This record gives sequence, structure tokens and C-alpha cells, in this order.
Amino acid sequence: MSTLKLFSPARLGNIDLKNHIVMAPMTRNRATSDNVPGQIQAIYYTQRSSAGLIITEGTSPSPNGVGYPRIPGIYTKEQIEGWKLTTDAVHKAGGKIFLQIMHSGRVSSILNLPEGAEVLAPSATSPEGDIYTDKGGMQPHTTPKEMTSDDIKKAIEEYTLASVYAIEAGFDGVELHAANGYLLEQFISPDTNRRTDEYGGSIINRSSFVLAVVKSVIEAIGTNRTAIRLSPYGVNAGMTLYPELDETYAYLVEELNKLGIVYLHMVDHSAMGAPEVPKQLKQKIRELFKNTLIQCGGYNRESAEEDLQSGFADLVAFGRPFISNPDFVARMEEGAELNAPDFNTFYTPGETGYIDYTALS
Ligand SMILES: Cc1cc2nc3c(=O)[nH]c(=O)nc-3n(C[C@H](O)[C@H](O)[C@H](O)COP(=O)(O)O)c2cc1C
Repeated sequence: MSTLKLFSPARLGNIDLKNHIVMAPMTRNRATSDNVPGQIQAIYYTQRSSAGLIITEGTSPSPNGVGYPRIPGIYTKEQIEGWKLTTDAVHKAGGKIFLQIMHSGRVSSILNLPEGAEVLAPSATSPEGDIYTDKGGMQPHTTPKEMTSDDIKKAIEEYTLASVYAIEAGFDGVELHAANGYLLEQFISPDTNRRTDEYGGSIINRSSFVLAVVKSVIEAIGTNRTAIRLSPYGVNAGMTLYPELDETYAYLVEELNKLGIVYLHMVDHSAMGAPEVPKQLKQKIRELFKNTLIQCGGYNRESAEEDLQSGFADLVAFGRPFISNPDFVARMEEGAELNAPDFNTFYTPGETGYIDYTALS
């Protein structure tokens, strides 16, 4: 048995985790019928329940937020019932699980949305390039409608209701997805948020939608079940760098700390080709955020242990290794070889490349 901190029990708010290892949120596009998760997701997550904490794939709080094909939702009765299969099975296996709530905003095609839904964003700007749709293959992004103040109010309600539904579905909490260029980050960046009302312009204004969502979710389900993910310097989905970026995130994290959310999940996507997050900003965020800080992005056993030991991370999240290694925790602990992931089946429907990766016996 290893004596590393990584494999020792941890505490998150008022729940116990069996280790310091988090499975990072990963979109897998297997919710083939009306964005409803089912048995196949329950099997996938249960196979990976030796993680101390699982964070699910991005899950939409609204028909307007389902930007990609076959991503699950948490806004219908069927979706809530569907997710119960996962939470029940993961809990029976001794795991803990948060739902990641992701509204895709402008990263969308109308062809991917249910009938009657609309593509919304803080401003009417689209990311360059195409997006995959089941109905028409690769398509240009649909130009979003600039959200009215009613749309903004409604979106805050949707995030809040989705959080209530997540708890009803048996999740231990929710992670609000404010990373990777989706709706919440679209409000943070001055490139995607060109509004002239109280939600745009200054750092305070650009942070106000995110903070309003967080406050509303906290009121509904409590600080111990509310968390967030941020990706400063991320360039996914057409996001760009801007001069006041460090200052923006320092302000945001300071405010999030005041609100007392249970964890902040930081991701550095330089392992996936994004610019590296400057050390200074990373350290600043660690100083500003007093509750549990999860770090993610290109970690292995050694680097994770180092960051846990130094206090830079309270928990460490791993993404890609969990796709191809259901028993990633045991393999890491034993120093066993890892299965390589098959990129071709990351986002395809069905069991292949999803629940058929083998564990060591
Ligand atoms: C197939 C795939 C899907 C992903 N989907 C999401 C997602 O839904 N939400 C999210 O916040 N990050 C998503 N990510 C990013 C991962 O959570 C993680 O930050 C990234 O893989 C870096 O960690 P790693 O180097 O350990 O893989 C995804 C990554 C991959 C490979």
C-alpha cells in the first residue's frame, strides 16, 4: 500500500472522500434519446467510482444550453429520473459525485437544440469554425441572439432549478461550468461580452452574471453543495486572452471565496495546447481561495502528489486517463501500465470506447 497523500482519505465540505483523486468532467455524448442519461452512463461512472470524487460531463440546465449532440440535460423529469440510475449506483459503490452544469451559450448549432430552443449569448458573436451536428454533419456555429435582461433572469433561474433537480436526482453537489468558453465564461471575457448594461464593461460588471448564478444556486442548495470551474488563459471555443485577464480572475476568485462555495476547480489547459497559466496568477488564486481548491490539467501521480504536499492543490483532477482506465486509481497506486485512450470514440454514441475499457483483474 502506498503512503502517498493522493491515495489517503480527504474531506470536501461535509462529505468524506476515499482519496484525493477527482475524475474531471468529460463530455461523452452518449445521451442518445432526448438528452436523457440512462443505464449506460450509470455503468460508465460506476466503473470509475474508485475516484474520491466524480464530476460528471457537462449537463445542460436548459434546452437552450444543449450546444452539442447527445449531451445530457437536467431540465426534464426523464433526465432527473435517468440521472438517479447513476447516482444510486455510484453511491452504492462508495463513490461521491457532483453534476457539472454546462450551458453552452454561443458554442452551438440550432440543429443540436431541441425544437423551440434558441442559441443565446451575452453578445451576438460566434466562435470561428464549424461545430458537429448529428443532423447535418459539420456546420457553422449559429449566430447567437444577444440576451435581453429577461433572458438573463431566466438563465439564472434555469441554473438554479437545475441545481435543485441535481440534488433531487441524488448528486452530492453541482459544479457550475464557468470554464472552456461556455456561457458563464462568455460573460467573463470582454471579447465575447460586449454589453453596455450592468452585465458588461468593467471587471465587476462582467463578473456579475457568474456571481448572480452562484449566489442563487447557494440560496437554493447551500454552500456545501455549490462549486465552480474556471479556466483562465483557456482558448477553447474561440476564447482569447485580454489585458485585464489576471485582474478579472483575481476579482472573481476573491468574490467566490467570500461566498463560501465548497470548492473551486482550476484547470490549466496547456497540456492540451492552450497557453500556460502564469505561475503568479496560480499562486494568487491559491492565496485568495481558502476552501478546497482542485487543480487539473496534465497531472500524473508524481506531479499530483507534489502539488498536494505543497498545499498548491487540495485535490487533483485527472481527465483523459479516466476515459481509458476505469481502475485508474488502482493502476496509479500499483504503478501499473495505463490503457491508451482511443480519441476516435471520445464523442461517439454507444458502448465502444465508453464502457468496454478493461480493468486489471
Ligand atoms: C473527451 C473530453 C471531454 C471533455 N469535456 C469536458 C466537459 O464537459 N467539461 C469540462 O469542464 N471539461 C471537459 N474536458 C476537459 C477535462 O475536464 C480536463 O480539464 C482535461 O482533459 C485536462 O485534464 P487531463 O490532462 O488530466 O486530461 C474534456 C476533456 C476531454 C478529453
